[in-house]
Formats: sequence, structure tokens, C-alpha cells
Amino acid sequence: MKPTYYITTPIYYPSNKLHIGNAYTTIACDAMARFKRLQGYDVYYLTGTDEHGQKLQERAAEDGKQPLEFIDPVVDWIKDLWNKLDISYDDFIRTTQPRHKDVVQKVFQRLLDQGDIYLGEYEGYYCVPDEAFWTETQCKTDKGYICPDCGREVKKVKEKNYFFRMSKYQDRLLQHIEANPEFIQPESRRNEMINNFLKPGLQDLSVSRSTFDWGIKVPSDPEHVIYVWIDALTNYISALGYLSDDDSKYRRFWPANIHMVGKDILRFHTIYWPILLMALDVPLPKQIFGHGWLLMPDGKMSKSKGNVIDPKLLIDRYGSDGVRYFLLREINFGQDGIFTPESFVQRLNYDLANDIGNLLSRTATMIEKYFDGVVPAAEDAGEPDDSLISLAQKTKGLVEEHMEEMRFSNALAHIWELVGRTNKYIDETMPWNLAKSEETKGRLATVMYNLAESIRISSVLIQPFMTKAPAKIWDQLGILGNAEATSWESAGVWGGLPAGSTVSRKELLFPRLDVQAELAFIDESTAEARRQAEENKKKQDALKGEPAVSETTANQPEATQAEKPADAKDEIGIDDFGKVELRVAQVVECAKHPNADKLLILQLDLGYEKRQVVSGIAKYYTPEDMVGKKVILVANLKPVKLRGEMSQGMILAASAGDQLTLATVDEGMPNGAIVK
Ligand code: MSP
Repeated sequence: MKPTYYITTPIYYPSNKLHIGNAYTTIACDAMARFKRLQGYDVYYLTGTDEHGQKLQERAAEDGKQPLEFIDPVVDWIKDLWNKLDISYDDFIRTTQPRHKDVVQKVFQRLLDQGDIYLGEYEGYYCVPDEAFWTETQCKTDKGYICPDCGREVKKVKEKNYFFRMSKYQDRLLQHIEANPEFIQPESRRNEMINNFLKPGLQDLSVSRSTFDWGIKVPSDPEHVIYVWIDALTNYISALGYLSDDDSKYRRFWPANIHMVGKDILRFHTIYWPILLMALDVPLPKQIFGHGWLLMPDGKMSKSKGNVIDPKLLIDRYGSDGVRYFLLREINFGQDGIFTPESFVQRLNYDLANDIGNLLSRTATMIEKYFDGVVPAAEDAGEPDDSLISLAQKTKGLVEEHMEEMRFSNALAHIWELVGRTNKYIDETMPWNLAKSEETKGRLATVMYNLAESIRISSVLIQPFMTKAPAKIWDQLGILGNAEATSWESAGVWGGLPAGSTVSRKELLFPRLDVQAELAFIDESTAEARRQAEENKKKQDALKGEPAVSETTANQPEATQAEKPADAKDEIGIDDFGKVELRVAQVVECAKHPNADKLLILQLDLGYEKRQVVSGIAKYYTPEDMVGKKVILVANLKPVKLRGEMSQGMILAASAGDQLTLATVDEGMPNGAIVK
């Protein structure tokens, strides 16, 4: 029997259309689900929508609609988005479906019967956008009562409520988290959950509301609806048929291998959810991974700022592969990352159009021209063939290693290293020269085979990340439908491409984009959102007679600390910092880069060795300024080629807006000295 793998996304509030930040989680889960399927797992991938709660009821009322009348079209829009992005989910759960409601009611009743839930009175504060309870001490500030998570106003509530005895399970949960380091990932967030929430002690949680009615009713007391987070979290087992007539999926797939969630909702998943499961005597999920946020240059995406980007707009213009590739490549999954239109267009141009697109088209053209479109057999071996082959053979293992740890960006970087190596192989072997003489025809055959084979391996490996490009590449290589040559296993074995395959050059895999035109397009596409944000703000100000402080309808919390810069990074431990090797280096020579106005080429003396570094500082320093300076070098950075010149490290500089100053040290400090 195949091993199983159960993966879930959070279920989204259908209070607004989703933005690329939400799409990011779903794409990441999809890459993981596809990767596991390729590896032979029996995968179950769940996503869905979280449709109850006060926020949704209020949002629908604003539009003069009944909740479902408002929600249904949004859910259709979301499903269409997943369709456009080729999200391979196995089930889409809606919390308004009877199959879910039924399980939630049974769960609630069971906990009530066994005394884990009791009736009491709640007096405290409630954040409607986050659907979260807070105590007075947690949310009292000089500016009033503010949600510590999202920074918006909270409402004071006093209600007769049902409570869940969270404190009863607190020690067991702490023990579980401590004994299972992989349970909460990444590590830094695990510590945050332990220190900020568990160690200070848990209060009993209010698990019903009686001041609105858009929710699942408490079966024995229908005046109350079940707290939306209890309702929502249960989706992960109700979708599998837990406590239903057919619980075969539950038995097959539970416990989940991974719940992937944003860092803002990690608390609900690592505290409320496991405690609920413990009380039900259900095994805990194996891992909960809290990923970072996708930010805009001016901070978190938010309707009130008008900086949200509609993913459909990007997909329609640039294709789903481009959007999927960008998000998975650009951002380190555990950390926050910034979407800038510039980096988006550049990645599409450099990585997709140039690196892989061009490689395929050049190779297909040459095989058509020199071998009538038939892939020749390799006739000899040697260098640089061997180094290309050995890199290709080890790439699959590296990709797998990173995927296991959700390091999508690193996995892609390894595939692109192979793509880059293959491009370099063309420069090294110069096939156009080999084609000039009959004597070198055998060598030319080897080169052509190696190029096509290396592309085949790359195309098999990109399958978890991109869904359309692999088949297009196989079509051009003549192996579309060849299960063996396109299987995941075959990516680890050199020689899977059958000689004799017919190559046919088709349209470009990824068209090259005009940077200025595309930047203007993306800017224009957010203009409407910005206009609307301004209008809404004016309306709210007018209603209140003062500037608005809350935005109850947005599904996006603003960052709590408004003063924190948009590019602020997650906290790291000293061990992470210790991985960076910083050393004093002296500039001994410096020249302008022959092909790039912005770059200088520096020769550095590290005391124990010499290094060449290419640096983008030509606008601020002349080569003459640089000679003699003692700078700080990131000495263990992987070398890269920048515009054809090798750069073995990076020098540090402070920059703000249009200013830049190099970080330098006193002359007396010896070259090679460690900076820490
Ligand atoms: N309905 C709850 C989840 C219940 S799961 C049992 C919810 N919904 S949400 O629609 O507000 O958010 C869904 C997910 O989107 C969360 O994981 C959240 O972290 C994520 N993101 C929201 N904005 C995001 C970014 N800007 N970037 C990355 N993830 C983003 O919370």
C-alpha cells in the first residue's frame, strides 16, 4: 500500500476576493501535494472556505444581502482562482455544508457531555475581523482597546457563553510540543508559541456566541452559535468523514501530515486545535507550519491601503506558471517576503524567458538544424560533459531534501543551477564550431544529446512548481506521453531521454516582457484599488466625523506595529546569524564593469586569499575612491556570475532611498579579521 500524505490549507474567509498573499499559501501546498504524489504517496489535499461568524454576517448585511447570498459568488470566484492556478486539491470544504455542520455539533455535544465544555459568563473584548477573544490587559492601550494581533478596535462583550476547559490540557500540550520538535515549524515560531502563549498559562476559552446567529447552533441550546474558530478548525477532520457514516477517509488519512497556515493564525492551530483533539482523544497532526507573509513595499496587503494585487489579473496576463514560480522562488517560505512589480517582471524575464525558455529554444533549433530534428545518441564523454552530468544526477536529491523542509525557493534554486550550468555548457562546447566539420560531428552529437537530456531532467523536476511548462517542454523534446522518460524517478538517472526522439520547436515557452510596459500595467491594475481605498476612507471619516481607525470588513489585519519597516525580517537565533561569515577585506584594485554601468569590479585582499567581487555601487563610488578602503565582506556567500564576471562574495553597505554608504572599518584592522 502507498504511504499516505494529508495536507491542508487554512480555509479562507469569503468576505472578500482573495489576493496574491492568500494564493501564496495555496500554491505552496499545491507544490507540496504534487511533489508527494510524484514520489508515489497517496495524497489528500484539502482546502475550502470558512463561512460563518460575525464578520461575514456584517459584511453581507453591508451589501444588503443574506450571508449565503453574499458568500456563494465569492466561493465561486475562489474556486475559479484555484482552477486558473491549477491547484490540485482533492476536496473543497465549505463550513456551511451539512457534512461539516453535523460533525461540529457532534464534537461540541461530546465535549459538553464529558464536562470539558461548561456554561458560564464571558466579559471581555472581541476582535470581529480576527474573530478572536482578548482580555482587558491584553488589549488596553493609550489609544483605546486595540486587538494585539491586528491593531484594530475591539468590541466590549458581555455574554452568557459556553467555555472550554483549555487549562486542563495545557501541560499535556506543552509536553507534546517539547517532545516533538517538528510539531510546530519553523523553530522560531515554535518558541514564540511556547513562551508567549503556553508558559504564561491558558484561560478557559469562550466557545459560543449568543449576540448574532450566523453560525452552527449549539445542539442543546440553539440560542448560541458555536465559536467560529472551533467550527473552522474542525474542517480538517469533518472533510474526512470523522464521526460520519463513512469515516474511511478519516481512517486512511488522519493524522494530517501538515497543516500549512500563515503566522497570524498559528496560535489557533497550535493551541486551540491540539487541545480540542486531545479532548476528543484524536491523534494530533504531525506538523503545523507557520509561513511568513507576502508584503507589499508599503507593508501588509490591505484593502484599506489599496495595495492588494488581484491574482487573476497576473495569471491572465503572465500565466499561472509565472505566478507560481515567482511566489515559490522569490520568498523564503518561513519568512516574510516582498512582492515588487520589478522583481516579478525580472524573474519572469531572467529565470523563465532567458534561462529556461531560451535554453530550450536554442537546443531545439540546433537539433533541428544539425540533426534534422532527431535527438542523436551521445558518442563520447569527457569534460565539460562530466561536470554537467554529475550536477544533473545530484539535483533531484537536493530538490527532495529541500522540499521535505518546505524550502521551495532553495529547491528551485538547485534546478536553476542546473539550467544555468546547461546554458554555460553551450558556451563551453560552442556547437556552431563543431558543426563546421564532419570530423567533429560525433562530438556535436554528444553535445546535443547532453543538452536535451539536461533539459529533460530539469523539466521533470519543475513539475511540483509549474504545471504547464513540463508538458510543453516534453512536447518539444518528443517525449510527451512517454511515462518512463517523464517519471519523477527518471530525473535522478542520466540517459532517460531516448536517442531518436523527434524534436520540434514550438512557440516560446515564456515570452520576453517589456519591463516598462509591464510595470505600468501592474501599477495601473492597482490604481482602481487605491482609488476605492481613498473613497472608503473618506466615507468612513465622514460617518464618524473623525479619521477612521477600524476596518471591520477587511479580511487582512494590518501589521500591529505601524512603524515597523515593510522589509523587517523575522527574528533569528544567534545560530542563524553565526552562519554568515563576515570578514574585513581591503580593496586592492577596482575597475568599472565593461558591460554594466551600475557595477564595479573589486579585487579584495582577505589576508589569506584574494577575491573578486562585483558590486552595484558605481553610482556612488568611483574606482579611485575604492582602492585602499577596508570593507566588510560576506565571505561565505556562494559565488555567482554578474553580467559575465565572477563575484565571490558581497560587501556591506547601508542604503536608504537614493543614498548609499559603504560599511568600512579602521585602517589598523588586519585583512581577514572576523566581524561579528
Ligand atoms: N478563516 C481563517 C482560517 C481558518 S483555518 C481553520 C482565516 N482566514 S483568512 O482568509 O483571513 O486567512 C487565510 C490565510 O491567508 C491565513 O493563513 C493568513 O495567514 C493568510 N494570509 C493572509 N494574508 C497574507 C499575506 N499577505 N501573505 C501570506 N499569507 C496571507 O484566517
